[in-house]
Amino acid sequence: MKRIILTGFMGTGKSSVGRLLAEKLNYAFVDTDTVIEEKQGLSIPQIFSQYGEAYFRQVEKNILKQVCKRKSIVISTGGGVPLAQENRRTMQQEDSVVVCLRASIVTIMDRIKDRGNRPLLKQDAAKMQALLDKRTPFYNEADFIIDTDKYSPMQLVDEITTFMRRYKN
Ligand code: S3P
Repeated sequence: MKRIILTGFMGTGKSSVGRLLAEKLNYAFVDTDTVIEEKQGLSIPQIFSQYGEAYFRQVEKNILKQVCKRKSIVISTGGGVPLAQENRRTMQQEDSVVVCLRASIVTIMDRIKDRGNRPLLKQDAAKMQALLDKRTPFYNEADFIIDTDKYSPMQLVDEITTFMRRYKN
């Protein structure tokens, strides 16, 4: 498997799990949001407020295409990536596996409560639940979906590597 792509809602642990997974596999690690921030020279909230969400989504598409060409890599994606069909096609390649991390809204709100770096998150739990419900069919297109509520990042890494041993063999 050349690349492992982590998808899922904000606060599901994609970056922390991704980093550990990359370490374990001796793969490179990238976070699409970090690449976007570096290339634009702006934080995600600045991109949203100065240029709007549609602009951000276009940049996100381009960055995803670039990073999905790399090999031996774990890619953590922004929570909105699977919504665009073009992005789902970019991710679903023969030599990639898409792993979606899932969490309950209670867990999500708890994990992200002190961080102001997510423009779409200045909302209450009911609105977040509605957004999550709307996105769930797209997240469900992943090759492997894993519940993160009760697991530590290290346990999730073990789950993912176990799945990969059985997958596409
Ligand atoms: C977004 C999730 C964020 C970031 C942006 C939009 C979303 O990434 O890409 O704020 O639409 O869910 P994380 O999932 O890493 O928080």
